[in-house]
Amino acid sequence: MDYSEKVLDHFTNPRNVGEIPDADGVGTVGNPKCGDIMKMFLKIEDGVIVDCKFKTFGCGAAIATSSMATELIKGKTIEEALQLTNKAVVEALDGLPAVKIHCSVLAEEAVKSAVADYYKRNNIPFDAKLLECTEEGCCHLAAHGEH
Ligand code: FES
Repeated sequence: MDYSEKVLDHFTNPRNVGEIPDADGVGTVGNPKCGDIMKMFLKIEDGVIVDCKFKTFGCGAAIATSSMATELIKGKTIEEALQLTNKAVVEALDGLPAVKIHCSVLAEEAVKSAVADYYKRNNIPFDAKLLECTEEGCCHLAAHGEH
């Protein structure tokens, strides 16, 4: 199995690892296929994600994709962050082996789940579709119990 240099870089030197104690939104998602879990913390000011951190108990691809996802959404508006797809994360990493694509879904869902948490805390109505998976054939959000 070949991993791109970017995947190896983000796996061995992941960015934005940790927790934000006073986060405005926290999302936890689990991958039912492998049992891996990802937790995403967002600090949001004026609709902009000013900081984000993650913790992943998972495989190397899950760590690399969450690391890349945090880099991609930092400094972006919530709306922009919600546009982030697992495919965009995979592309930014110069690809993933096909059997590891499901790991990247976790990163997208963790971001969405954290935003949903932010909306709930602030009584902002949101479309439940937000928490639906964009990757075909994925079951997802087991830890969250939405499905
Ligand atoms: Fe579980 Fe990668 S094998 S997220």
